[in-house]
Amino acid sequence: MRLNACRILAACALISLSGCNAGGQKTAYAPEFVFTYAENQAEGFPTVQGARRFASLVNERTDGRIEILVYPDASLGEEQSIIEQMQFGGIDFTRASLTSMSEFVQKYNVLQLPYLYKDSAHMWRVLDGEIGRDFLAAADGSGLTALAWYDAGARSFYTCEKPIRTLEDVAGMRLRVQESAMMSAMIEALGGIAAPMPYEDVYSALQTGVIDGAENNFPSFESTRHYETAKYFTVNEHTRVPELQLISTFTWNKLSPGDREIIRACAEESARYERELWREREKVSEETVRNNGCEIIRIPERERERFMEAVLPVYMEFCSEYMDIIDEIKGA
Ligand code: GCU
Repeated sequence: MRLNACRILAACALISLSGCNAGGQKTAYAPEFVFTYAENQAEGFPTVQGARRFASLVNERTDGRIEILVYPDASLGEEQSIIEQMQFGGIDFTRASLTSMSEFVQKYNVLQLPYLYKDSAHMWRVLDGEIGRDFLAAADGSGLTALAWYDAGARSFYTCEKPIRTLEDVAGMRLRVQESAMMSAMIEALGGIAAPMPYEDVYSALQTGVIDGAENNFPSFESTRHYETAKYFTVNEHTRVPELQLISTFTWNKLSPGDREIIRACAEESARYERELWREREKVSEETVRNNGCEIIRIPERERERFMEAVLPVYMEFCSEYMDIIDEIKGA
């Protein structure tokens, strides 16, 4: 009797180790696919929570056949190198800023032009509509397949020694931007000196005085603790840069049509969740940096208009062939 029970237990252990049941079918213990998902934000950040929600939805809806391991904190590399690795399937998923993607798909510059959207609701009308769908498809051919839009709010300047209150204050300031020709041109158009570098290098560049300031949204400014050195945050909101959740096309091509459908649906669901978290985090982050002694400067509308005017040459320099789409976006 005891011997039989032992045999059964041993057989069960073997079955779960091999990942097959008696019929030779895969069980939940041995996923058919184990994928990697790279994130450059810290644990707990809305985009990382979105990634985790995505991974668990996919796992649940494929009955454990697809497992997605999320690597936050840029542990798989900085954003542009992640995109390069994805182009040949070295990494399966990521969420990337459109600024980084624009270096691979030039047309994406359109959606991150300075002062393109009136506000967040305007941007989401565009991205949730036909234009947004067309721009998801614009990634095709780049080695990456775009799944869903994530929120990253509006970007503004923050500086260490001298606050930016007027356009003239930007003159001669060395300001970090993402590694993008258009973002560098925007800084130059405002009278500053562009310092392109990866996200992960900004903290020490601020501390050592290599740069006078940088630009980002409130949650990134807070999460990276840039506010420890940069004590002035000017809410000039020069850009609204949406983000893309992406899968390597190499990985996409391995999936059945049914699995692709599941992946897309889960991506959209995770994006809706991220958007909710984003709204909340924006408020909390602003509060946190203020409580840590950061001065938040809100510039008057007429000053904002001067910033808008100053960046207009960037439209012609980088997006002249898309003026019709730009008009359509502005009118949305
Ligand atoms: C945002 C964005 C990151 C990006 C960063 C940057 O924080 O979410 O993906 O890398 O901006 O300024 O580089």
